[in-house]
Amino acid sequence: MDPEYVFLPKSRLAVLVSGRGSNLQAIMSACASGQIPATDVVAVISNRPQAPALALAAAAGIPSPCVDHRRFADRSSFDAALRAQIDDFAPDHIALAGFMRQLTPAFAQHYAGRMVNIHPSLLPAFPGLHTHAQALGEGVKLHGATVHFVTADLDAGPIIVQGAVPVLAQDDVASLAARVLAVEHRIYPQALAWLVSGRLRIEQGKVTIDGEKASGISPCVWPGTEDL
Ligand code: GRF
Repeated sequence: MDPEYVFLPKSRLAVLVSGRGSNLQAIMSACASGQIPATDVVAVISNRPQAPALALAAAAGIPSPCVDHRRFADRSSFDAALRAQIDDFAPDHIALAGFMRQLTPAFAQHYAGRMVNIHPSLLPAFPGLHTHAQALGEGVKLHGATVHFVTADLDAGPIIVQGAVPVLAQDDVASLAARVLAVEHRIYPQALAWLVSGRLRIEQGKVTIDGEKASGISPCVWPGTEDL
């Protein structure tokens, strides 16, 4: 058969959101440009009906249902409904992009190795909420963002890529968050490109790219590699 006509199915990515959707936008743009190769965002799912990210998805013609966590009595019934909604779209991978609900261990296990999250700190520093305030409070000089696999432990899964930014003397939460967000928009598409291409392996809790430690690929972004 002429190789031009070989049919390769595209990988299917579902994105979970709760808010603004700037990382979703970066992911959708990277799928459209091919930076995340041969991948369709097949669903954007929110736990908040008012999330602006839902409108972004709808404008792009992407199904964008909401599973409102307030309609469920407890975490496990919400997770069961969310899981059913996700699985309706049969995604290969799931990206949490500003998804602000903690997930049950059973949920994390169901998507083990297929679900990733972006967290606005250089993990393992500052897990949880208010990471920029935590960073300013501790007086750290480098801060940043991390893309990691999702496991049962909050913000503690194997790290795929990190991006660092300087903390400047005049920073407040807003200025620091904006600097970190710019690096988030760079590292999340990169991590997803590796993930959908099957280039990531988890060995003893650590991620390798292309199956070897010396792949020659640098899974970090440093100050000086971008306009700050
Ligand atoms: C990002 O900073 C992300 O790291 C954090 O929540 C924020 C979401 O922003 N988990 P957006 O909705 O992608 O604009």
